[in-house]
Amino acid sequence: MIIRIADNGCGMTENVKQKIFDPFFTTKPVGSGTDLGMSISYQIIEKHGGQIKCISAPLQGTELIIQIPVQMKSA
Ligand SMILES: Nc1ncnc2c1ncn2[C@@H]1O[C@H](COP(=O)(O)OP(=O)(O)OP(=O)(O)O)[C@@H](O)[C@H]1O
Ligand SMILES: [Mg+2]
Repeated sequence: MIIRIADNGCGMTENVKQKIFDPFFTTKPVGSGTDLGMSISYQIIEKHGGQIKCISAPLQGTELIIQIPVQMKSA
């Protein structure tokens, strides 16, 4: 199963893109959030044996591609 989510927001520099899955990495003002959204998402998807990839460029928006295996593993 593949889920693709795209926006037409501010996008990210290459430098930011490489850090978005790190716990507590943020480009927002300190104290404005938990700064855990992307890292928790990464961990949940990884536990399901899936992958999350990010395509983004400044001023061009962001696309997140989530791939999760659907087939049950045999016991
Ligand atoms: N759709 C997006 N467009 C541009 N930058 C993004 C996007 N999603 C995440 N980011 C970048 O990744 C960083 C980490 O995202 P994450 O959701 O983990 O924390 P946050 O958004 O900073 O804080 P919180 O979700 O707690 O408000 C953001 O600070 C931002 O720099
Ligand atoms: Mg967030």
